[in-house]
Amino acid sequence: MKNTTNLGAVTSVRGSVVDIRFDEHLPPIYSLLHARDGAIAIEVLAQLDAHRVRGIALTATQGLVRGSSVEDTGGPLKAPVGKGTLSRMFDVFGNAIDRQPAPTDVQWRTVHRAPPALARRSTKSEIFETGIKAIDVLVPLERGGKAGLFGGAGVGKTVLLTEMIHNMIEHQKGVSIFCGIGERCREGEELYRDMKAAGVLPNMVMVFGQMNEPPGSRFRVGHAALTMAEYFRDDEHRDVLLLIDNIFRFIQAGMEVSGLMGQMPSRLGYQPTMGTELSGLEERIANTDTGAITSIQAVYVPADDLTDPAAVHTFSHLSTSIVLSRKRASEGLYPAIDLLQSSSKMATPGIVGERHYVLAQEIRRTLAQYQDLKDIIAMLGLEQLAPEDRSVVARARRLERFLTQPFFATEQFSGIKGKLVSLKDSLDGCERILRDEFKDYPESALYMIGAIDEAKGKAKTGKPAAKTDPDSKAEAKGDPKPAADSKPKAQSEPQPKPEPKPKPEVEHAAADAHES
Ligand SMILES: Nc1ncnc2c1ncn2[C@@H]1O[C@H](COP(=O)(O)OP(=O)(O)OP(=O)(O)O)[C@@H](O)[C@H]1O
Ligand SMILES: [Mg+2]
Repeated sequence: MKNTTNLGAVTSVRGSVVDIRFDEHLPPIYSLLHARDGAIAIEVLAQLDAHRVRGIALTATQGLVRGSSVEDTGGPLKAPVGKGTLSRMFDVFGNAIDRQPAPTDVQWRTVHRAPPALARRSTKSEIFETGIKAIDVLVPLERGGKAGLFGGAGVGKTVLLTEMIHNMIEHQKGVSIFCGIGERCREGEELYRDMKAAGVLPNMVMVFGQMNEPPGSRFRVGHAALTMAEYFRDDEHRDVLLLIDNIFRFIQAGMEVSGLMGQMPSRLGYQPTMGTELSGLEERIANTDTGAITSIQAVYVPADDLTDPAAVHTFSHLSTSIVLSRKRASEGLYPAIDLLQSSSKMATPGIVGERHYVLAQEIRRTLAQYQDLKDIIAMLGLEQLAPEDRSVVARARRLERFLTQPFFATEQFSGIKGKLVSLKDSLDGCERILRDEFKDYPESALYMIGAIDEAKGKAKTGKPAAKTDPDSKAEAKGDPKPAADSKPKAQSEPQPKPEPKPKPEVEHAAADAHES
């Protein structure tokens, strides 16, 4: 069928949803239609009857009226793939948006592709080091796996993702693809500039469908990015790092499309097809014997509710789930990873090794015990605990502090230089804390450091360390004993002591106890 021969006419326009009548040939599902000389693009999502299709516009529909002529392009939405895409920035249609001429050295492929067959998938598991202590020790990433960064608004998903890009991209021999879905344009532009400055752009492709774009565009931009990633995996046999901020916006765009198409919503207003849409995208992120796509995705969690259907559906696709907690963020314990809720299927002795596994279990146990003791401490005070419980608390708090880390991504506003810590240093540090080697050090000496040896230098200088640890006040309240026996801290603490604010969760626990 020739492109120019199949013409239709608009019969109705409702926001992004457009009905079009074709008298001769009804375009199949996923056909891309053009109106107003290509200024408006519409993707067919349903065939209504023998002559009418319903589509969703991937662009704004201003100016489209009933009777407008629509042209069937004779194919689906396509994305540019090939070497020419490297170091470039695209929108959902594959138009260059970096103010440079369109790439010439590219092929165009449909964005609707099937995931690799089961038999083509690779079966080996390997760790992907990030240089971030809390992640490498407790929730290691899988090379060729999918990792999710879950968190509510403003708990640090984008910062953590940016930090991972910074840490991994230079060591990564393959290609990186960043896909911005429904987030801020500003962030995309900042990232582009940062990557350019860091000199990693030559091995990177960026694709954006940000929040100002219509739902159809946000819904398809993930597919476009994956198509580019699949080219590098399947044709060039290279490893690909696919970074997505934010996969929830993909689900949300699907919800908007579904609502506009007139489908009945399912639980909590989500589209009935959410599961299929998400797996259609996620299943394409896979390892084959020729190359791997490792993906890290930020997942916005509406209202911090991890039981939200969008979060639950996403969890099931991932090999590593990193949950960010608002409580830790409010205590200044960045990266605000909830160490007990996060999990990785890589954390088994067969993959990470016996020592790492045992250590990680021990850390979790210590943190979990501290968690259980928190209520008692809030009600009765630390003095009432048995001595062994008290040392568990001391260890857990030191571990929590040690697992914070200054980021390169936040250097400008935290004023602390970013640190990359090797897995060996992270494990050594945790092991030495668990052996109580640091029990006489103030907790703040372990806060925002890299490898554990830095604690010594920080303990000596004393003052600035205590100042930067926002939680050292809370420590004074719940934990008078260690304060008494460690000199530097005792000096720095009398001032913040009277403030009741810093540890709200303890306050609530105490209040609840009084009520009951
Ligand atoms: N590691 C960190 N160190 C210091 N501050 C941090 C860190 N991570 C996050 N923050 C603070 O939290 C703020 C919000 O972080 P970020 O933009 O990453 O949140 P987000 O989860 O992506 O939010 P949204 O859902 O709105 O996109 C940052 O601007 C910064 O002030
Ligand atoms: Mg963000």
